[in-house]
Amino acid sequence: MANVVIIGAQWGDEGKGKVVDIYTEHAQQVVRYQGGNNAGHTLVVGDQKTILHLIPSGILHPGKRCIIGNGVVLDPKIFLGEIDNLQKKGYLQDDSQLVLDGNLHVIMPWHREIDLAREQQSDRKIGTTGRGIGPAYEDKIGRRGIRLYDLVKPERFRRKLSQVLPEKNFLLEKFFGKPTLDEQAIFDEYSAYAQRIEKYLGCASTLLSKAIEGGENILFEGAQGTLLDIDHGTYPYVTSSSTCIGGVCTGTGVAPRHLDGVVGIAKAYCTRVGEGPFPTELHDEMGEALRQAGQEFGSTTGRPRRCGWFDAVAVREAVRLNGLTGLAITKLDVLNDLESIKICTGYAYQENLLEEFPRDAEILQACQPVYEELEGWQSDISKAGSMADLPQAAKDYLAKLEKVTGCPVVLVSVGPRRDQTIQISNPFLS
Ligand code: GDP
Ligand code: IMO
Ligand code: MG
Repeated sequence: MANVVIIGAQWGDEGKGKVVDIYTEHAQQVVRYQGGNNAGHTLVVGDQKTILHLIPSGILHPGKRCIIGNGVVLDPKIFLGEIDNLQKKGYLQDDSQLVLDGNLHVIMPWHREIDLAREQQSDRKIGTTGRGIGPAYEDKIGRRGIRLYDLVKPERFRRKLSQVLPEKNFLLEKFFGKPTLDEQAIFDEYSAYAQRIEKYLGCASTLLSKAIEGGENILFEGAQGTLLDIDHGTYPYVTSSSTCIGGVCTGTGVAPRHLDGVVGIAKAYCTRVGEGPFPTELHDEMGEALRQAGQEFGSTTGRPRRCGWFDAVAVREAVRLNGLTGLAITKLDVLNDLESIKICTGYAYQENLLEEFPRDAEILQACQPVYEELEGWQSDISKAGSMADLPQAAKDYLAKLEKVTGCPVVLVSVGPRRDQTIQISNPFLS
């Protein structure tokens, strides 16, 4: 029996959704623990593509329970839309497959409005997804948030709404010059959502404890990536949740001793959406070639993703911070046509060579990548089913990634589809 955590080892969009879909085979419970619908996790089964923003990526497997933990912030409209879409495609036919923790915080209309207004007016844009994530977490920490348990109790919801809304309207109108929001309209709209959501309510922490006692396997699905972590990422160009390993325990109520494997997901190169330092970013045709070959356009906002070479300094930081026990390398096929491939193994900063990721984003901004160059394989690997099918240069590239990150590669992804996956070792058997 083992419980395994999936964490993005870069700046998000590493292919976590695909890996969670693959690993769900080995688990009985799949759990999201932080973030909200800023996430966009893509699953491709046959020629059918599904993008999930809130519901865990195990949902395409009937009989596997998917839980949204207390650490997530939930936009009810998006959540219900996601359920409708899945049910239309024939998934989620049994309501008991999905559980929402009652303590999770609800993203309210003012969160989205404030997020957008701050981005419009600020001279220090973060490049957020505009989904209200930051403002919702602000209210959670500020102890004025509305939780799912509040939403489903009309009197309590009414009381909380009338306590919170005047301050939000003051901010919207007087500071941002935006229209105010109407209390009754919000009450009616969100009460209707609450009625549909109530049947999914439960307690993630106790359900998971019982599952652990019963010898079941749990798969924890991270959103965003290590370098977007509110504490350990490239602050302030980060998201507002704990994307690193600690977020699993606070976001689900499962104790750390129950976490066994921690698999970091990293692309064979690197991308970032939004603002912030990115030392290996390529502003030339090579960056554009990666964007086109990797179809690097956001699954949530459609924004073109910034592209660059694999940054081993950054991934080493993810290995260290999360105690990664394995790496899943995705999108190796995107490098198929390249004559040579670079890996950043250190940073030049002023007169120094840094081998560790700087903890200050302003220092990171001033770092120049130091590269090692490897030969490309210049052939199509998208049909490779095992390591033996890969050309020697691709094997050498993976071996180099293991060496420079100090972490074993446990899975290699050679295309977006479920069947385009090479599993080297199974983290549930650790
Ligand atoms: P996530 O947020 O970490 O789940 O990643 P996204 O879904 O936002 O972005 C990953 C994108 O790459 C999606 O469009 C996937 O379908 C796609 N993808 C995942 N693995 C591979 C792969 O090995 N090769 C290729 N070409 N695409 C992949
Ligand atoms: P998945 O789970 C990539 C980025 C945004 C922005 C910053 C803050 O699909 O990997 P936010 O809306 O969270 O306040 O934005 O974080 N960001 C992501 N980038 N993948 C994601 O999720 C992201 N979620 C947020 O682009 O730079
Ligand atoms: Mg994504």
